[in-house]
Amino acid sequence: MPRTAKGAHTLPGEYFTAREVYDQETDRIFSKSWICVGRASSVPNPGDFFLHEMDGESLIIIRAESGQINCLYNVCRHRGTRLQKEPCGQIKSRLHCPYHAWAYDTDGNLKSAPNMMGKTDFCEQDHSLQTAACVVWQGFILINQQRQVASFKNDFGNVLNRFDNWELDRLVSVHEIIYQVHANWKVIFQNYSECYHCSLVHPQLRPITSVETASNDFEKGHFLGGPMILADDYQTVTMNGKWCGSPLQELSTEDLRRVYFYTLCPSLFISPHPDYVLTHRIERVDVDSTRIVCNWLFPQEVAARDTFNASEAIEFWDLTNRQDWEICELTQLGVQSRVYRPGPYSGLESMLAAFDRHYLSLMATESETSSR
Ligand code: FES
Ligand SMILES: [Fe+2]
Repeated sequence: MPRTAKGAHTLPGEYFTAREVYDQETDRIFSKSWICVGRASSVPNPGDFFLHEMDGESLIIIRAESGQINCLYNVCRHRGTRLQKEPCGQIKSRLHCPYHAWAYDTDGNLKSAPNMMGKTDFCEQDHSLQTAACVVWQGFILINQQRQVASFKNDFGNVLNRFDNWELDRLVSVHEIIYQVHANWKVIFQNYSECYHCSLVHPQLRPITSVETASNDFEKGHFLGGPMILADDYQTVTMNGKWCGSPLQELSTEDLRRVYFYTLCPSLFISPHPDYVLTHRIERVDVDSTRIVCNWLFPQEVAARDTFNASEAIEFWDLTNRQDWEICELTQLGVQSRVYRPGPYSGLESMLAAFDRHYLSLMATESETSSR
């Protein structure tokens, strides 16, 4: 399918600078969408938890006794106190409120409330912790704070099994780097969604994947992107062009010659390579500030080999990331100017136009009016 941006232009400046737009995004996108908060492998055992903070909310992502992962609001049902302060850890058997010792199990059920339980006018079932929807997809934990949440399978129907051949659900992170970037989250999404900039910004990437080989297999909605083809002399995207371990076993001949670049609005990039998968988790921090958690995922058995060394992949993408963040920060400075006006997208930026269309459609939806 030909790539075209059909006369589309970049978003007006206020979308990258205005507090009002940022707050609308909270209501219309971030509190309603499936948001990636991490990998299931980071909470392997019952009681393991970490906190996810977003838009003033604190959420406890915890593996329950049953093995299921829950998302509990970090808000006591007595007088609202934060239950958990530590960013991660293990709950032995109960989540205890530090104020008056109400205690909850890993599913959020109230299990003890001194001087209240057993009283005729107190029903413990009415005082479980509030929860948000939580699913595990391809090893990613996704949460959704919408009260009437749509079925995950409906929302993700077209990509539910997209990464089965990479066995993404069982890959483990061998390295993580967290970046703080002074740019609006959409600048980061847009930068990832085109390789028009690659020859100038990423001289080391230029010989490996040429922008002319890029195509898109998802062109509409919340999941966008597609493949680029590796140049003949390269097995994968690394500093030396060679696999770090060995190619993923279930890949087709075609996929062994490709690198894919996908965005999942509004919180995740997934980049499958022949021998590993690179992920970027995007967190809005402020109008002009974004936190990016980058992980290099490999099969456990490959990572466990004595000879395994991921440094060629880590070095390559850390360098590329930093080049991207620098150009994103320059873009943020420019779109804050009083003279900035929307500019025309090239045909190589069709995914940016598609992202904007989806983003604007979400922003046009009504906020939830009733409170939780
Ligand atoms: S506020 Fe939590 S027990 Fe009182
Ligand atoms: Fe880039």
